[in-house]
Amino acid sequence: MTPPDTGLRAGHAHLWWAVPERFTDPTELARYRSALTDEERRKTDRFRFARDRQLCLIARVLVRTTLSRYDQVRASQWRFQANRYGRPAIETPTSSLRFNLSHTSGLVVCLVSRDREVGVDVEPRSRTGAWLDLASRFFSAPEAAALRQVNATDRPRRFLEYWTLKEAYIKARGMGLAIPLGDFWFDLPPRHPDDVRIRFAPALDDNPARWQFGVRQLGEHHLVATAVEADAGAPVTITPHEAVGPLL
Ligand SMILES: CC(C)(COP(=O)(O)OP(=O)(O)OC[C@H]1O[C@@H](n2cnc3c(N)ncnc32)[C@H](O)[C@@H]1OP(=O)(O)O)[C@@H](O)C(=O)NCCC(=O)NCCS
Repeated sequence: MTPPDTGLRAGHAHLWWAVPERFTDPTELARYRSALTDEERRKTDRFRFARDRQLCLIARVLVRTTLSRYDQVRASQWRFQANRYGRPAIETPTSSLRFNLSHTSGLVVCLVSRDREVGVDVEPRSRTGAWLDLASRFFSAPEAAALRQVNATDRPRRFLEYWTLKEAYIKARGMGLAIPLGDFWFDLPPRHPDDVRIRFAPALDDNPARWQFGVRQLGEHHLVATAVEADAGAPVTITPHEAVGPLL
């Protein structure tokens, strides 16, 4: 078992990420499978393509081994329970750790903190789409209008920034798409979104000061947005770490 990392102090969150394709040792992969519950193994095996089974396996193991970096619990011992919207959280053993998982082709990320709600979303930068149409369907009116002002070259990235931030927020709330995506919106500064502000329609009972957001590129190909419950004093520090094998 990896020794607990005592570095997850108050005011910090860690963003662990893994590239599923980098885990190729069959003995190691068999060990990872053995750390899963029967149900998790069944979920993994249901995928038709090997790359999807690999992604699912690495996602389960990343969550388990990430949590075991901070609490004296074996990776195989964690048990999770999903809320009514499908969000998994630690059921046993009791822990103050909070986590959220996101995965897409080529990357798995797990954001972890203590006593603080977190949400994370990753998307590939290569994603293509009819950005303005998608924005008018899924974003709030101010976001769709702001996106129309962005030049065509910068638009795909800006679209993904909004998209991942919106996902990170609804995931931090643990409610997924039960939160109408038009009931909140982000103000993004023109260039690099260091200072991301959220605003809520009155229908959505939440306080902008409760949350801190960030969006960053991870590797060459992915964009990751994070939502963490804010501290009144200093900003929460979010540190990325690559999880490399062997994880167990
Ligand atoms: C399920 C949802 C919460 C995230 O879906 P997603 O972006 O496809 O998937 P991600 O990889 O980011 O996250 C999946 C993980 O989030 C976790 N999760 C599931 N439901 C969740 C919820 N309600 N809240 C927080 N986390 C949740 C799970 O760990 C899940 O992984 P697992 O099933 O392998 O255990 C939900 O927001 C959704 O269905 N989104 C659809 C996409 C969309 O229309 N987006 C519009 C953006 S503007």
